[in-house]
Amino acid sequence: MKLTTVILAAGRGARMRSALPKVLHPLAGRPLLAHVLTAARALPNNDVYIVYGHGGAQVQSAFAHESEIHWVHQTEQLGTGHAVAQVLPHLVDPALVLVLYGDVPLISTDTLRLLIQAANHHTLALLTVALDNPTGYGRIVRDVNGSVLRIVEEKEANDVIRQINEVNTGIIAVSAAHLRRWLTQVQNNNAQGEYYLTDIIALAVNEQITIKTFTTQKTQEVLGINDRVQLATLERYYQQQQVEQLMLQGVTVLDPARLDIRGHVELMGEDVLIDVNVILSGHNRIGSRVQIGANCILHNVTLADDVEILPHSVLENTVVGQGCVIGPFARLRPGTVLADQVKIGNFVETKKITVGYGSKINHLSYIGDSDIGQKVNIGAGTITCNYDGVNKHKTVIGDGAFIGSDTQLVAPVTVGAGATIGAGSTITKDAPAEQLTLSRSSQVSFARWQRPEKKSS
Ligand code: UD1
Ligand code: CA
Repeated sequence: MKLTTVILAAGRGARMRSALPKVLHPLAGRPLLAHVLTAARALPNNDVYIVYGHGGAQVQSAFAHESEIHWVHQTEQLGTGHAVAQVLPHLVDPALVLVLYGDVPLISTDTLRLLIQAANHHTLALLTVALDNPTGYGRIVRDVNGSVLRIVEEKEANDVIRQINEVNTGIIAVSAAHLRRWLTQVQNNNAQGEYYLTDIIALAVNEQITIKTFTTQKTQEVLGINDRVQLATLERYYQQQQVEQLMLQGVTVLDPARLDIRGHVELMGEDVLIDVNVILSGHNRIGSRVQIGANCILHNVTLADDVEILPHSVLENTVVGQGCVIGPFARLRPGTVLADQVKIGNFVETKKITVGYGSKINHLSYIGDSDIGQKVNIGAGTITCNYDGVNKHKTVIGDGAFIGSDTQLVAPVTVGAGATIGAGSTITKDAPAEQLTLSRSSQVSFARWQRPEKKSS
């Protein structure tokens, strides 16, 4: 049977109290729905349908870059059964339908695989979980032999059924042909006036279809997000899982509770050390013996072996060569590419620059749109004036150049190899290689000068 995943994401998520649709709230930097999509996508030959409704345009545009999603609009949220029914006209039998929830982000592909392997024309596969506090969930009602009879929603349950702590996760795998038949029979004469998907279980039992249950031991993988407290709780759980993975791969994390990973960390070596309050977002690649100091934020960064990032540094879309030392308080903006053994010191901002082997920009500089050679020394307070208010211009500095402190390099400008620029210069024309260039008003002193004295009143 062709596999089709239906992700229900039409609900409003009122308890989030948010203008943002619930499924777009981020967990580890990605929308809840994106996590579900990733789990579904890992199943081969899978057509993915998303049932959307509330905040529809916003949800769709957040996933505009994702091809091969089938969007199905549920104009009115009449219940989970009604939501799934919206997809059925699009499916060709025989098909197997896997139902997921846009607000249950941590469902694992392994669990889904178990369900779809078990489901067929004679068997419906149902994922359940045992909860200490089952309040709010649909309860799994079994007969004396342990066979599932039906699911009873909290609002329909009597006191005996409320005692059952095995609950419906909502995740099922079932043949589309059966669904078509059963969903036309499901009524909405219940406490919520909704078409409950869960009512199909009793219909299936009635037709002698086997209900095969899987009970997950990992409660977190089936937890749904209804409010921001649950979102934060699941975020902490997920972060802990990720950080543990990293530690097991050989990274020392000084405080596992104070490292957040919002994306993917690609370890290229071992013995990495990460100090407290670090955020790694996007795709970061980290080599051996890299040390990341406290309070650093790294986004889409590649760090070669032996790089040291000192505290309070922010790096974005940057490549850092072997043995470089960055910070403290450095800001490396997109397009910064550093060769090996480069030093970028405190209060230095860089953007769209290449820096050659062994060069140093140690203090209080802004260097943008520049190509800097090897073994260049850029003195404190050097500024590339790369922007004339309309266009950006380039600065080129040759190998071995020495730029004196407080220099302004008015781009476009080239400083030749081995050139020296006198401190305090405003360089508006190319500076020749190997020569001293400076622009500075000459200094005068007045020997007989007297300080003014305060007048007595
Ligand atoms: C549902 C199950 C319950 C289960 C629980 C697990 C039903 C009737 N009940 O209850 O047995 O224990 O999930 O979390 O299925 N949605 C739509 N369209 C609708 C209604 C809902 O897309 O018309 C989506 C929601 O956005 C949400 C999901 O379906 O993602 C679940 O709906 P919700 O109303 O939260 O169901 P629960 O009451 O939690
Ligand atoms: Ca729910």
